[in-house]
Amino acid sequence: MKVLGIESSCDETGVAVYDTATPGAGGLRAHAVYSQIALHAEYGGVVPELASRDHVRKLLPLVRQTLAEAGLRIDEIDGVAYTAGPGLVGALLVGAGVARALAWALDLPAVGVHHMEGHLLAPLMEDDAPEPPFVALLVSGGHTQLVAVDGIGRYRLLGETLDDAAGEAFDKTAKLMGLPYPGGPQLAAMAGQGVPGRFKFARPMTDRPGLDFSFSGLKTQVLLAWRGSDQSEQTRADIARGFEDAVVDTLAIKCERALEAAGSDVIVVSGGVGANKRLRAKLQDMAARRGGRACFPRPSLCTDNGAMIAFAGALRLQAGQHDDAAVHVVPRWDM
Ligand code: KG4
Ligand code: ZN
Repeated sequence: MKVLGIESSCDETGVAVYDTATPGAGGLRAHAVYSQIALHAEYGGVVPELASRDHVRKLLPLVRQTLAEAGLRIDEIDGVAYTAGPGLVGALLVGAGVARALAWALDLPAVGVHHMEGHLLAPLMEDDAPEPPFVALLVSGGHTQLVAVDGIGRYRLLGETLDDAAGEAFDKTAKLMGLPYPGGPQLAAMAGQGVPGRFKFARPMTDRPGLDFSFSGLKTQVLLAWRGSDQSEQTRADIARGFEDAVVDTLAIKCERALEAAGSDVIVVSGGVGANKRLRAKLQDMAARRGGRACFPRPSLCTDNGAMIAFAGALRLQAGQHDDAAVHVVPRWDM
């Protein structure tokens, strides 16, 4: 089954074709992402109306480009999947509208996918993917969740953030040290130049039992450290390193606890922060020490993309699920 996937929940337009005839990474026939970062940079964050308009401009050309890269005509597609939520309502409606219209015109089944289920299943698109049960860590700009995955579609929330998501903490911390939007990846790059241990920040909520997170206090600690410092480039890198180590340690401690609670040795990680090199290394070490493994999608499939939507949609369509013809999105939606 060849499924066209469309992602437009925030500031990335993503389109992909996943073919279930070839399991693993080979099934990904083509994927393309157009990022709106430059458009929103001068505002310091995503402007919803500008995001919607840019999806309108970019989506159909990206569908054409992706089909061409996959070597497919549109009438060779067997189904359409789109992100139905959560996300910005206008941005979601663009993807849902295009997906539903294509499906209707071509008489194909279409299915709305939960954005976070897309992230959660993304690691399974890679070769040598684990089979459920496993524990998933979802770390994006909007979510930080630990989920016990008993099977596809069978998810139990083990813990989540009580305030900022991990990616949001990266972005806000970067901003307060003067890095341009979106600061997360830049802060991480800067941390690579930083001296470990010069700044030591708390590992929030690790001193008590439980699997929930809280990251908002960390940025206040960083703000105080930054204001009281010489604000040189090296100091900024050192603070970035202290911050990154605090977030990565906290995530790793909670992941290990979640594995113990779920009786599993496999941790599957996805969402934008899953692209973070130090997090990947730390979780790989932790899992190896337990005799298990940590699985990640390639970094370009950690951040928002159409491939994860095509893949999650293909699994749902194969299970016989699809939606009626109404264009329906769910801006706020628990997985
Ligand atoms: O999954 P994603 O692309 O979009 C959402 O669904 O939110 O995640 C974006 C988030 C942003 O907060 C970004 O700063 C963060 O992921 N991010 C990173 C890195 N790359 C992206 N955070 C830390 N290190 C990175 N290398
Ligand atoms: Zn996302």
